[in-house]
Amino acid sequence: MSGKLAKLKVKIRNFSLKDMLDFKNLPLRRDKAIAAAEDKDINTSFPINSNAARLHPSVQKMVVSRIIERDGCSARTLVLKKEDNSPAAWFRAGQYVSVKMKIGSSYVTRPYSISSSPKLTKDGRIFITVKENPGGFVADFILTELKEGDSVLVSGPEGNFYHDRLRDSRNVVAVAGGSGITPFLSMAYAIRDGIEDFNLTILFGSRTEKSILFRNELDSITEETDKVRVVHVLSDEEAPLFEHGFITADLIRKYAPSDYSLFICGPEGLYRHMEDVVKELGLPKRLVRREIIGVSGRMVSSVSDTPEESYRLSVIQGPYRYETTASSKETLLVAMERAGILAPAKCRSGECGWCRSKILSGTVCIPPQNDFRRNMDKQTEHIHPCVSFPTSDIVLEVPRGDTPDA
Ligand code: FES
Repeated sequence: MSGKLAKLKVKIRNFSLKDMLDFKNLPLRRDKAIAAAEDKDINTSFPINSNAARLHPSVQKMVVSRIIERDGCSARTLVLKKEDNSPAAWFRAGQYVSVKMKIGSSYVTRPYSISSSPKLTKDGRIFITVKENPGGFVADFILTELKEGDSVLVSGPEGNFYHDRLRDSRNVVAVAGGSGITPFLSMAYAIRDGIEDFNLTILFGSRTEKSILFRNELDSITEETDKVRVVHVLSDEEAPLFEHGFITADLIRKYAPSDYSLFICGPEGLYRHMEDVVKELGLPKRLVRREIIGVSGRMVSSVSDTPEESYRLSVIQGPYRYETTASSKETLLVAMERAGILAPAKCRSGECGWCRSKILSGTVCIPPQNDFRRNMDKQTEHIHPCVSFPTSDIVLEVPRGDTPDA
């Protein structure tokens, strides 16, 4: 403004008799409109909401419709089907779901990569494969107790371990160990089915020829599409047509095209081994992707060599307080599950933030490679219990998780 106040001209019309009559007849007109309206409920659900709920469900009620034993591989594939036969949530090949169960008095969740094609979601099915995990009581339960017809609660698809053409090269070299083949099997199916469009070279490490998981499935995919290639690498035996030893930088160079993204999925030992291999290859960070779902006590051993100790863990959930103990070699999430405390969890690797909780007192050790907390969370003493190992007595404020029978 230039110092002068702008003059605002407002024209006020006189209130007329017609305005008064309009106002007086307003209820009459409203009643007429109501009487003339159709006698049906007002629409309170909109297509956008139902589509969003269908595509991104927080839980899917599913049954184990079939169990496929993987003889010689100490593993089982579970075919999960929606209880109401509706389509399962669509996913990107490489994503995982978190399966929630009640075992004894403990509520547990475990993330498993989906091993089937996204195409099968249309008839409500997804496949997951569970491999023997010595000392792991959920894998034990699934391998020995779970049977066809049992119900499980499954999360919507989670995780970022999928091919993104804006971020990744059109050529992917996948390094898989053991059951780490599952996300790559799903990618291979998706390529075969025309859902994904990139070239996939899988270097698959197994101990022996007999212990190769999904050998027939991988063979039939490579017969159907030339965009997928599989190289088997056997560590414990030599056989014609197979590579022998470990997956090294030289082996990757032998099979990789000139430009590629490197995807890695397998047991913890494979990730440690691949750290040096990636350095030797000199690949930029953005071209290397790792899938780590689940963290074990061995990971804390890599950052802390303190002896195993037991601490007091107090958990506050709303008005409730629980007291239990936690080992320095187990995550706080595992300690809570053992005590039957219903804690939220999905990825179990520090990435999704679903288990975010506040430390009211005490200290923890978090392996740096699994510390995905926001800076603000670090400043305000928030942690992800799925990757936090106690180093003192702890008081923890935890949100309440869903029950498997929700
Ligand atoms: S369960 Fe995902 S961060 Fe803890």
